[in-house]
Amino acid sequence: MITIREMPPEEADRIAEIDLSEDDDIVYYWINGRVEAVPEAWRRPRLDPTGWWERIAAVKADLAIGATLWGAFDDEKLIGVIVLRHCLPPVGAFLGQITAQLAALWVDRSYRRQGVARQLADTLIRAAQVSDAEWLYVSATPSRSAVGFYTSLGFLPTQNAHPELYALEPDDIHMIRPL
Ligand SMILES: CC(C)(COP(=O)(O)OP(=O)(O)OC[C@H]1O[C@@H](n2cnc3c(N)ncnc32)[C@H](O)[C@@H]1OP(=O)(O)O)[C@@H](O)C(=O)NCCC(=O)NCCS
Repeated sequence: MITIREMPPEEADRIAEIDLSEDDDIVYYWINGRVEAVPEAWRRPRLDPTGWWERIAAVKADLAIGATLWGAFDDEKLIGVIVLRHCLPPVGAFLGQITAQLAALWVDRSYRRQGVARQLADTLIRAAQVSDAEWLYVSATPSRSAVGFYTSLGFLPTQNAHPELYALEPDDIHMIRPL
């Protein structure tokens, strides 16, 4: 049985137990003001601790400023995680509105397409909805799985990317949905 629970920051290193490997033959790009799928083969190998280091350090930095981490477990096995950053810095087009960020979402390869990300995202959205946030933002890997998943959740691509997040991930598809 799959269960979801909040994970304390001390457990963040367990994220490296997740098999993040993936391959596909589609990449999304902005072309003439639209997000389009372009045939392009790519492969992400299973990450070793070094490959995870930067990602887990970013999660820990978010947790240190008040973000929340949840894990999905198959009994004791960690099979997915999601991170909610409660409020993005209010700069540029984000002035005067409270925008939460789905800051990380990773599901183990052998558990994909079983609704695990959906359960994690439902948990995050419920938590964001009881805050003052009006919008939920994600900087999505330009892959079929990530863009497909966020589209299924009601996110739409935006060209009004958050300046700090765009600087970090200019090739991502930046997406937003109301809460
Ligand atoms: C993106 C990811 C989190 C989705 O997790 P998941 O548990 O497989 O997703 P779910 O089973 O909850 O999928 C829910 C819906 O999302 C959409 N979706 C999920 N994977 C998809 C894919 N590969 N292609 C198209 N749509 C997809 C579908 O609409 C799906 O519903 P359906 O299975 O009934 O058709 C997972 O593929 C993953 O961890 N990928 C690698 C890391 C990554 O890219 N994370 C996002 C970074 S921003």
